Amino acid sequence: MYAIGTLRIVGRLLRRNCASFLTNSSYSQFRLMASGNSNKCKVATEAHDKEDALLSDVFNLTMKMAVSASRNRDNPVVRFKTPEVLERELNFGLSTDGVDNSELLHICEKVFENSVLVGHPRFFNQQFAGLDSYGLAANIVLDALNVNGHTFEVAPVLTMTELAVLKHMQKFVGYEDGEGVFCPGGTYSNMLAFNVARIKRFPESKAKGLYGLPKIVTFCSQQAHYSAQKNAALLGYGEDSCVAVKCDSHGKMIPEELERKIVETKNAGNVPLLVTATAGTTVLGAFDPFNKIADVCQKHGVWMHVDGAWGGSALVSKKHRHLCAGVERSDSFAWNPHKLLCAPVTCSALFVKQKGLLNKSHSLHVPYLFQVGKPYDESYDIGRKLVQCGRRVKLLIYIIYYLPAIFCSYAVRIITHTYQKRVCFYLAKVFVVVKVPVTQR
Ligand SMILES: Cc1ncc(COP(=O)(O)O)c(C=O)c1O
Repeated sequence: MYAIGTLRIVGRLLRRNCASFLTNSSYSQFRLMASGNSNKCKVATEAHDKEDALLSDVFNLTMKMAVSASRNRDNPVVRFKTPEVLERELNFGLSTDGVDNSELLHICEKVFENSVLVGHPRFFNQQFAGLDSYGLAANIVLDALNVNGHTFEVAPVLTMTELAVLKHMQKFVGYEDGEGVFCPGGTYSNMLAFNVARIKRFPESKAKGLYGLPKIVTFCSQQAHYSAQKNAALLGYGEDSCVAVKCDSHGKMIPEELERKIVETKNAGNVPLLVTATAGTTVLGAFDPFNKIADVCQKHGVWMHVDGAWGGSALVSKKHRHLCAGVERSDSFAWNPHKLLCAPVTCSALFVKQKGLLNKSHSLHVPYLFQVGKPYDESYDIGRKLVQCGRRVKLLIYIIYYLPAIFCSYAVRIITHTYQKRVCFYLAKVFVVVKVPVTQR
């Protein structure tokens, strides 16, 4: 294994340094090398030229068919075709025959042609925002670096900037201390909250599982995202243990109903573990009454989680921040900048008020990765706080995407940005839902 690794490294160095070696080395030194090496260098250089040409052509094609095409309102947002038509028109068969650059480019062209132009001014979606040039720029850099963000040593600068951005976002949530992690989506952020809440309540369950525990019950509003049920099923609490609490005519959870359900649960000898309150429900855009829900949770010792995947971004708007009043009293908060803030998919963050709980809930003794005695504080190994090992680093997206905005004003940038229409649409959704009863919609 080591030999293969070494060969690969030597091969790479040879390819990379070939040109400089030829110029820097004296002719006699060069003669000392086996003549076969010169051929290898030539082949490697040719391969590099081919790769570079492909990269540059794909970049130009991307600019033309995704970026520029999106800006032309006369273009359709999508040329929709059924799977059968796509099957007929495009060749999805895999073959062991290689293809050359021109064929690869042709394939890319077909992909663009038959995909949704998410940067188009008329593209709207509740799940994600679309194309943003700053986000794309960040993604290009990230893809070129292609690092895995589990430990500090493989992604040093990216770890630091990721932590800085999380700290900055956390201030908006209103947690004075606490910690955050980037996750691969809102469902995942919510899932970690479900897990952390259980481990806080029943620390031994990390090792022993649910065996011997009383029945765990979670609560969310009737309008909450379905991830609440999915996560209850996934974590072994059971889909049926996720209780749907009645909403008012605006789609907001009724706190008195919540309390009634919690008392019922306790009376039945079960454990009310966690309440998911929602900042921006998926369909109606309703914001639950966080302060009242926090009162209930505090009174009954229940973990309060806020699912702000969709509407959490109201926190950065001076005008709409009031919708989130009380979220600072929650125990955890999920927030998806890939929705309202137009960051590229997928970008979600989970914040937990009590520092150290993420690590306590998700770290394991893995000496080949997370050694003790590294020349830095082990808390910089972000993989300790998460379930997965492989992880795309998000931070750069935020750095490139937000730096122009963060230190002036989020709201100003959002409103003056080219996404004006899209963001206004979202803000209008918030506004409409707050003002207009469901029955009149
Ligand atoms: C309120 C809410 N929570 C959670 C999610 C799930 O987020 P994700 O799609 O990133 O898993 C959504 C998605 O629309 C949502 O609207």
